[in-house]
Amino acid sequence: MPLARSLSVTSLSGLEEWDEEFDLEDAVLFEIAWEVANKVGGIYTVIQTKARLTAEEWGENYFLVGPYVESNVRTQVELIEPTDPVLKRTIDKMNSSGCKVYFGRWLIEGSPYVILIDVAFTAWSLDRWKSELWELCDIGVPWFDREANDAVLFGFLTAWLLGEVRNDIHTDPPPHIVAQFHEWLAGLGLVLCRHRQLPVATIFTTHATLLGRYLCAGNVDFYNNLAQFNVDKEAGDRQIYHRYCLERAAAHCAHVFTTVSQITAIEAEFLLKRKPDIVTPNGLNVKKFSAMHEFQNLHAQSKNRIQEFIRGHFYGHLDFNLDKCLFLFIAGRYEFSNKGADIFLEALARLNYLLRVNQSDVTVIAFFIMPARTNNFNVETLKGQAVRKQLWDTAQTVKERFGKKLYESLLVGQLPDVSKMLDKEDFTIMKRAIFATQRQCQPPVCTHNMLEDSSDPILNCVRRIGLFNSSADRVKIIFHPEFLSSTSPLLPMDYEEFVRGCHLGVFPSYYEPWGYTPAECTVMGIPSISTNLSGFGCFMEEHIADPSAYGIYILDRRFRGVDESCNQLTSFLFQFCKQSRRQRIIQRNRTERLSDLLDWRYLGRYYISARHMALAKAFPDTYVYVPHEPNSTSGFRYPRPASVPPSPALSRHSSPHHSEAEDNDEDERYDEDLEAEKDRVNIRQPYTTPFKNKSSA
Ligand code: UDP
Ligand code: G6P
Ligand code: GLC
Repeated sequence: MPLARSLSVTSLSGLEEWDEEFDLEDAVLFEIAWEVANKVGGIYTVIQTKARLTAEEWGENYFLVGPYVESNVRTQVELIEPTDPVLKRTIDKMNSSGCKVYFGRWLIEGSPYVILIDVAFTAWSLDRWKSELWELCDIGVPWFDREANDAVLFGFLTAWLLGEVRNDIHTDPPPHIVAQFHEWLAGLGLVLCRHRQLPVATIFTTHATLLGRYLCAGNVDFYNNLAQFNVDKEAGDRQIYHRYCLERAAAHCAHVFTTVSQITAIEAEFLLKRKPDIVTPNGLNVKKFSAMHEFQNLHAQSKNRIQEFIRGHFYGHLDFNLDKCLFLFIAGRYEFSNKGADIFLEALARLNYLLRVNQSDVTVIAFFIMPARTNNFNVETLKGQAVRKQLWDTAQTVKERFGKKLYESLLVGQLPDVSKMLDKEDFTIMKRAIFATQRQCQPPVCTHNMLEDSSDPILNCVRRIGLFNSSADRVKIIFHPEFLSSTSPLLPMDYEEFVRGCHLGVFPSYYEPWGYTPAECTVMGIPSISTNLSGFGCFMEEHIADPSAYGIYILDRRFRGVDESCNQLTSFLFQFCKQSRRQRIIQRNRTERLSDLLDWRYLGRYYISARHMALAKAFPDTYVYVPHEPNSTSGFRYPRPASVPPSPALSRHSSPHHSEAEDNDEDERYDEDLEAEKDRVNIRQPYTTPFKNKSSA
């Protein structure tokens, strides 16, 4: 196999420099996960965004291993012949023994090699492998658990692959192999590697614990009882004992065990009974624009497109000012209470009340982007977009007819008679179009036909709180139970474009080992609400002196009851609604400034450390690991922005002639922000929070 290069992690503005002296010559990295080229949730984001940096470090010696899913491969992967003779031999051998293993390049930044295994093709081995698993470690996987069956197939196939690779290497000395397995679904491969005593340095990274996720989704006071859970019983009660055993076995067999945040490290210690060796926080591939305001322009462009969608969705009920409309959203896998959709809805109901009694002219539209089982878009929603399109077409037709008459009149040297510019036919066309916008029902809450409409938790909660998009409501709700896509006939935007167009991401999770969604908001300069029970929220609290000044609102779900947290969330939302446009622009600039902190170029070092530690443990004769103290408690801390007054009470308009029109005068907005950083008296506090937190205390 070709040689790998070693990497020097460069410093980012203000962030500590870190040079890595570890010699990776002749080492090969395999990273194995069910979400390689297969989007399910955040693990896909970890692997996809990290690929560029890892490929830079490992060059041709980096291979991602995942499941073969035809629809994904068709759109994301270029299948090629294996470039490396060892891998070619391995894959050929496996394919001639009844497997289907593909090799290709994943078409993402860094273009890493991928080895994709069709687990269904080898399903004929399932029973045999399950018996082997039972004999090996007494883990019995029930026939009906499809995901666990896939985990068994994937585990045996990846261990087979790594074993063959090792057998096929005939160089002396052979390259050292590091294999990093993500999450329980890939964990069995690691257990088998260790059982077969393959000379492979192994890392197990868990992005959550199975039991933690299940316990939190039930009605359990999780964080106060971590030490008390009888883990075997709890797993058994939830019928996930076999999955739990696979996860725990992987955590214990690994040379190095890692997880994505401190909070999940504590959880893992109690529930999996092993303390992670390193915390590897999740990063992103941050793109910096050459002009600072570029991301603000993108916000405006994307917001226009969301507004277009709203025009269609609310046709016949467009009795609110779109320019005074704020777009809030929650997104992610559909775990109603773990993701905090429950308290978000409750807070929206309270916000609706506050906006109404305060006679606010702001309208809030809250999007819920969480995939559920559906039967496609519903007719009423599609009709809304069709009506909008028809109105647009009508306006264009009348405009053309009008323009033609105007032109003809100018040609003969006359000013047009305005009263004759629109004739009877024009009015007929327009009346017909207006009639089409009449609507007997309210704009729908849900954009799709839900398969489990009557038991759906979001819809049931909406029914209970009565937010049905009526005219009187200042808060409207749109539930889009499918991930966004630029090819959608309804809202043709990809997720990134959508986030850019929104004003605030709301992620009040109760269980969230990391939480990519608020991190993604941050690098796009969109403020967000997360919690002190999410890995991201804790990480930001640790690294930023006053997170809320940067548009990073961290909800207290750790030391408050649900109702109190809900009040705090309502307060955040209400204060956000009170901001002027100028304040939002300034706040977005600040939020975007935090991007460096979330860049893989900075956070990738923790992964590098984990790999070095694993190599040193597996091959102590060749490698020595010298800790770099890369734990998330050390390192950089963003100061409070200079423009934020120390107390909200000191916050005043700089000019006695201040007006709302001034707020909307955007010409000087970027200079304004720079000035603001220099002159703290000139700027008003963008929000006030009645709550004391660590940073403001
Ligand atoms: N996401 C997406 N399309 C959508 C909504 C969300 O691709 O329409 C992605 C989002 O970019 C994020 C991931 O889903 O990377 C959710 O990850 P997170 O870590 O927040 O939660 P998880 O679902 O893994 O628990
Ligand atoms: C960006 C654009 C401005 C636009 C503003 C709207 O800053 O550059 O042209 O007016 O966004 O901000 P808002 O928070 O009201 O969507
Ligand atoms: C898991 C967690 C999520 C995390 C993601 C990536 O799905 O639920 O919080 O962001 O993995 O690590």
